Amino acid sequence: MNKKLRVGLFGFGVVGQGLYDVLHKTKGINAEVVKICVKHRDKPRPIDVEYFTFEKNDILNNDSLDIVVELIDNADEAFEIVSTALRKGKAVVSANKKMIAEHLQELYIIQQETGSPLLYEASVCGSIPIIRNLEEYYDNDLLNSLDGICNGTTNYILTKTSEENKTYSDALKEAQQKGFAESNPRLDVQAFDPKYKLNILLCHTFGVFVKPESIFNFGIQNLSAADSTFAREKGLKIKLIAHTSKLNDKVIGYVIPTLVNNDNMFYAVRNEFNAVQLGAAFSDKQFFYGKGAGGHPTASAVLSDISALVYRYRYEYKKVEQNGTLPFSNDHKLNVYIRYPNEAFLKELEVTDIQQRFSSHETQYVIGRVSVDTLLRSNLNDRDDVFVAKWN
Ligand code: HSE
Repeated sequence: MNKKLRVGLFGFGVVGQGLYDVLHKTKGINAEVVKICVKHRDKPRPIDVEYFTFEKNDILNNDSLDIVVELIDNADEAFEIVSTALRKGKAVVSANKKMIAEHLQELYIIQQETGSPLLYEASVCGSIPIIRNLEEYYDNDLLNSLDGICNGTTNYILTKTSEENKTYSDALKEAQQKGFAESNPRLDVQAFDPKYKLNILLCHTFGVFVKPESIFNFGIQNLSAADSTFAREKGLKIKLIAHTSKLNDKVIGYVIPTLVNNDNMFYAVRNEFNAVQLGAAFSDKQFFYGKGAGGHPTASAVLSDISALVYRYRYEYKKVEQNGTLPFSNDHKLNVYIRYPNEAFLKELEVTDIQQRFSSHETQYVIGRVSVDTLLRSNLNDRDDVFVAKWN
């Protein structure tokens, strides 16, 4: 019988409280939260004050704790906590996608050097066990592509605006009230959050380490009634999809609003649900579906990591070990719908192969081809007069 693992927790927000709840409702897991480090002294909290500390070293220097669970908001502080804990020989669980994406290679190296394990299933697609499946089930040669709805907030907004006629700002407010959105919702709506998740998936799918700033992301913040009408009239839905695949011995990846028809599995993914579709050489397409945001669904993935640590599970980073790292490239083109403010903008984007052009006094758009390199350089998220969606 394994001994009961003692957990030191950083952060007691939506996911931290969710974890406390689910851990206390689950009899089968041999672990208990014994100390919780939080920032704000005066916040009312639903459990005994004895649990709390405001001093991180009360956890990091406490030799009686076996596992550190990091569930705070600030990515820089999170990296400090996680790297220190690993170096002190503790097993660590984190859900901080921004921190992990920004430091993945460093964290990989620290794990190799120290032998301490870091698990982060909850950082990608909430409750869907995608990282462990990529690590354990799929041998490298089998995988050709991965597509995912990896952000619950934007999928919630897209569902509520297209199906229930809610306004964008009301739908965002609801997503915030339900605890789905980041504390800075720009990370959700401008697709930084799903990009961080794609970044992590790139490592576990193809063994690639890439900096987030090298990956193109564009969100749904500029979605207009004209864009929704365009999609509806063509029988399509707009979904924010992260994509990666192999193309000529290179790996490509981006996050972009994507027009999907009702044959596409993502068409039916609604509200805060997430989904991942893998394209594999022999098994063809496989689809994972589950809640991608919210306290309990995310905490269930943290809990599963704690449980895996009880059995000394660790990521082996098999794809990295097998492949070395494949080159990541943005040198390829996408078919896109572009609602644009003026011809100069189309020139700036170097749009080619224009197959449709539409203009009225309300909107103007083209359907053509654009290189991902150009999209990345054009800082689309800084503009409010453009909408771009991938058109298959
Ligand atoms: N803000 C994130 C989302 C939370 O909406 O998906 C889960 O990572």
